[in-house]
Amino acid sequence: MRIVFFGAPGSGKGTQSKRTGATLLIPQLSTGDMLRAAIKDKTALGAKAQSYMDQGQLVPDDLILGLIHQRIKASDCHEGYILDGFPRTLVQAEALDEMLAKEDQSLERVIYLEIDPELVVARLKGRRVCSLCGEEYHVDHRPPQKPGFCDKDGAPLAQRPDDQEKSIRVRLEAYHNQTAPLAQYYAKDGRLASVHAEGDIDEISLRILNALGH
Ligand code: AP5
Repeated sequence: MRIVFFGAPGSGKGTQSKRTGATLLIPQLSTGDMLRAAIKDKTALGAKAQSYMDQGQLVPDDLILGLIHQRIKASDCHEGYILDGFPRTLVQAEALDEMLAKEDQSLERVIYLEIDPELVVARLKGRRVCSLCGEEYHVDHRPPQKPGFCDKDGAPLAQRPDDQEKSIRVRLEAYHNQTAPLAQYYAKDGRLASVHAEGDIDEISLRILNALGH
């Protein structure tokens, strides 16, 4: 099954798509994670993407499309995959449909995580990430046992540069202007499934599986 998880920054795309991917036994592909890995590895793509990401702006479509085009052809994607954070513009959505059509494939479902924008600000400001393994915490909802350090490997926790309030507001604006209109694009042909993304993480996971017919 080929699925897209779509929603505002902080709506829970990463958290929920990893869980759904583990249940359905298909890989979860996050363009945000791929770009952060490129920055960490100091690749040419990372160098081009970093300033956009730190400021909370979208990375240009051509860079993202090249990344996705390569990744979905990999052998672990033959049985399907979940795209987390892609597509984010109409150009990306149309390009994905074209890429899949060329392979006689299609995107079956788009899970739209709906949430109050003010709630995402609190979620993102409190997020902390392990500088070594990438494990995610939240100062209120999922605090580490020892404040500031990862439970798994003891490495210091850091805040993503784009989780500062100023960048969060830019990300929300980019979402409203460039990404939110995709709901109409996918609703037109019945691929969109809206899921209420507030409340308990386990309950939201169940709502998603219901929306996928599991
Ligand atoms: P990306 O990494 O995709 O960031 P984002 O969309 O802003 O999403 P987040 O990872 O911040 O949030 P999420 O919805 O995944 O929520 P999460 O589960 O992590 O992209 C980063 C940047 O890369 C973009 O700004 C852009 O520059 C660039 N980029 C990426 N893809 C691109 C594309 N296709 N085109 C162009 N540019 C692109 O949860 C957030 C927090 O909330 C966590 O702390 C979590 O623990 C907590 N949480 C989750 N669920 C709950 C819950 N139910 N209750 C309480 N807390 C919760």
